[in-house]
Amino acid sequence: MARIQAIRGMNDILPDQTPIWQYLESTVRRVFRSYGYQEIRMPIVEQTELFKRSIGEVTDIVEKEMYTFEDRNGDSLTLRPEGTAGCVRAAEEHGLLFNQTQKLWYAGPMFRHERPQKGRYRQFHQLGVECFGMTGPDIDAELLLMTARLWRVLGLDSHVTLQLNSLGTPEARGAYRDALVGYLKQHEDRLDEDSRRRLTTNPLRVLDSKDSQTQAILADAPVLTDFLDDLSREHFAGLRTLLDAAGIPYTVNPRLVRGLDYYGKTVFEWVTDSLGAQGTVCAGGRYDGLVEQLGGKPTPGVGFAMGVERLILLLETVGSVPAGVNNDADVYLIAMGDEAGRKAFLLAESLRSSFPEASVVCHTGGGSFKSQMKKADRSSAKVALVLGEDELANASVTVKPLRDDRQQATVQLDALADVLKEFLGQGQADADNELRL
Ligand code: HAM
Repeated sequence: MARIQAIRGMNDILPDQTPIWQYLESTVRRVFRSYGYQEIRMPIVEQTELFKRSIGEVTDIVEKEMYTFEDRNGDSLTLRPEGTAGCVRAAEEHGLLFNQTQKLWYAGPMFRHERPQKGRYRQFHQLGVECFGMTGPDIDAELLLMTARLWRVLGLDSHVTLQLNSLGTPEARGAYRDALVGYLKQHEDRLDEDSRRRLTTNPLRVLDSKDSQTQAILADAPVLTDFLDDLSREHFAGLRTLLDAAGIPYTVNPRLVRGLDYYGKTVFEWVTDSLGAQGTVCAGGRYDGLVEQLGGKPTPGVGFAMGVERLILLLETVGSVPAGVNNDADVYLIAMGDEAGRKAFLLAESLRSSFPEASVVCHTGGGSFKSQMKKADRSSAKVALVLGEDELANASVTVKPLRDDRQQATVQLDALADVLKEFLGQGQADADNELRL
């Protein structure tokens, strides 16, 4: 029978990859926690209307990328293409936005039917943050400080740069849109096809065009910055002052508009040139109108999301994965004979109590001494413990170093914990636990 394969653009994350995922996730969680952010978990499926109303009907995501289906009740549902809309819905639905501020984070898979390539997938993962109830630029700055700290902790700070822009109020954007369309219309016949279409549907997105001729035309186009309203200008200046004071470098990019409609005022992207075309590893901005647009009371919001796959690619590309991030075992127990096998099981349990941080693998599945040793070697364990008839008779264990040229030695059970400390480090041992066979 034909084999059933995974869906294109939806990846399995195999055991040799999961340690780096866990490392990234736990590091991010620790940094978020250090700023007092709290986790929220939303469903993966929402009503289609939620995304249409928030991301915008004439965006790439809603027009061509959503996984939308009818469920058995005939309701139109969509696999979430991003986390902001669901987070706003959940926060509003559960009264988290009433007379209070919120600093929330979430993690999980998102779904977009894009053309898969390196760094771009149909199921991908985001780590995101959303903050509610704060109008000033201090919270925008905090988000950027928090991400900058994360890059430092991950050793990525010299590989990413911050691009910043202000989109102003909807009115300011409207005035700019008119000016931009007026200008682009004069050059319409020389625009690429996508940009010609966007000229009528979503003109600001023309600024994102990668086409070189369109880019050349854009060089003389009106600039959004010149159309900003006073409040947005003040907000942006406030943000810049805070970033300057904190020593966070950035580039103001007046062409940065983002692909989702809910943004206003601050928008930003952290980009790298180490990953080719998919270089945005983290992106976000302010969305003060979104809560109201989704039926809530007017509530300011600001947030961002990081692409986990892209960050992992970047960690690997620049060689910033710490040495301890792997599946290596610490201790591998080998036994010869049924009785020794039973004892090894118990010894392994007792080792796990004594060394709670260590990875203790007890051989299972039988086999010769040689084949067990081979498995021990492949496990990358630092040390193998061998239990045979002699060891059983003398209440001892043979300790076989696997990664250095220390001699193998047979030690009494009551001396084993001290010997293992030399391999695993003093700090790992729980002194109160006595090793038993
Ligand atoms: P976004 O720019 O659409 O924004 O996505 C954020 C990040 O998710 C991107 O910068 C990228 O790293 C990653 N990403 C997006 N699409 C893919 C894909 N197909 N494959 C791999 N990675 C991808 C949002 O989603 C907003 N909700 C961010 C936000 C939160 N704004 C305010 N709060």
